[in-house]
Amino acid sequence: MKRRIVITRGIFPEVAEALSQRFDVVHNEEDRPWPPGELAAQMAGASGAMATVMDKFDEPLLARCPDLKVISNIAVGFNNIDVAACTKRGIRVTNTPGVLDDTTADLTWSLLMAAARRIAEADAYVRRGDWKIAFGVQYFLGQDIHHATLGIIGMGRIGQAVARRARGFDMRVLYHNRTRLSAEDEKRIGANYVERDALLARADFVVVMAPYSQATHHLIGAAEIAKMKPTAILVNSARGGVVDDAALVQALKEKRIAGAGLDVFEGEPKLNAEYAKLANVVLTPHIGSASRATRIVMCNTAAANMSAVLEGREPPNPVN
Ligand code: GLV
Repeated sequence: MKRRIVITRGIFPEVAEALSQRFDVVHNEEDRPWPPGELAAQMAGASGAMATVMDKFDEPLLARCPDLKVISNIAVGFNNIDVAACTKRGIRVTNTPGVLDDTTADLTWSLLMAAARRIAEADAYVRRGDWKIAFGVQYFLGQDIHHATLGIIGMGRIGQAVARRARGFDMRVLYHNRTRLSAEDEKRIGANYVERDALLARADFVVVMAPYSQATHHLIGAAEIAKMKPTAILVNSARGGVVDDAALVQALKEKRIAGAGLDVFEGEPKLNAEYAKLANVVLTPHIGSASRATRIVMCNTAAANMSAVLEGREPPNPVN
């Protein structure tokens, strides 16, 4: 008898189809997020779950899934899963690292550039029909990106991909990370290690690239924003909660920094309503890895992880 697996959201049909050759697949093709009770009901008797960052696998849910052997996240992050509780229960957790680095770095740069050159604001101005005089010497003045200083907090694979892209803009790159890179890697990437406060004080663009955990909760809050230049721009495409949204809203309102580009938010999809009223912030709905090609690779990677565990092999991307 085929084992039951649950794909919690709508994925590419060809990936679900390939999985259905080996497993009895429940696929949420409708793509309506299942509330916890419904997710638990769908998980009854399932050996595997292919999940997204929205699906919270906490202890109460795990307690209702006695047959579960693997949670395969279609994401590099896994803060939606209580990994310690999974380990205790003998449930493997896997993720999709590496395959989304470049795509997420591209989106990070899109936000950086859009915020620096006020693209969203200018686009809205043109669409509204407010563009009445063809050219103004002082229209939509933004920040230069070229030859500026980029500061990256969290220099993992994605942080490094963001840094590599700075070369084309002749930027200085500073970084701060829990562990310093080797001198060789620093040279290869062209990034200099500095303490966090020095980075905040010197960077024209502060990019946050740290995963969410208790240790990184509000890593950037009022005190950190206060150390940034009034002309600086903050970019967060890592995780909501790494930046204190209330503190950032306040700083943007008071123009204590020039702007922000944000792809992730505390409690998303709920948005701090103040963000939408501010012209100096660019907002996207958690689309860091959302290119077609990358999302297909992520789904195939998650499927390979799932199959490996359920077929008794070591998964390519274990978290625990
Ligand atoms: C998306 O947020 C991911 O962690 O891959």
